[in-house]
Amino acid sequence: MRTQRTANKLGVRSVDPQVNVTLTVNGETISRSVSTRMLLSDFLRHELGLTGTHVGCEHGVCGACTVLINGRSGRSCLTLAVQAEGADIRTVESLAGEDGALHPLQQAFQENHALQCGYCTPGMLMNIVSHLESGRPLDLTDEGIREMLSGNLCRCTGYQNIIAAVRSAASALGKS
Ligand code: FES
Ligand code: FES
Repeated sequence: MRTQRTANKLGVRSVDPQVNVTLTVNGETISRSVSTRMLLSDFLRHELGLTGTHVGCEHGVCGACTVLINGRSGRSCLTLAVQAEGADIRTVESLAGEDGALHPLQQAFQENHALQCGYCTPGMLMNIVSHLESGRPLDLTDEGIREMLSGNLCRCTGYQNIIAAVRSAASALGKS
């Protein structure tokens, strides 16, 4: 571990321990030297430029920052970058094909008008993808989908169109 002296706008200097972290992000192996207190959300957005991962509350409530960590949905605002050492991370940028073709879930969101401002959408998508890819049986009743979405807050849509989109995507992916 090494330390790096940094100064904030007031000129106050701090010593911030730096460590090397190696992880896989969207299929690519990445190694960086990072502050021990850097959040995974900040690592993705500021170090890698993957700004599709949004940050809302920054304390684990809203779900906007949700990514897949070793195949399971997780809050990147509650995870330190160094905790992701060796992990396989997927962000919303991994969903569309290389040719830009939307993932069936993205397509379903578009067709069902399941977003308005879109701020919550990347976290919603990654949470739902974790369910669609889990191999576990899905409860696609309204109640079951609301339970699935219970960790993601949306201020705009009223959720009903998101529920329709989840059902539509599950059908398109042969999960219903
Ligand atoms: S920004 Fe992570 S849960 Fe809200
Ligand atoms: S679409 Fe605006 S917060 Fe969900």
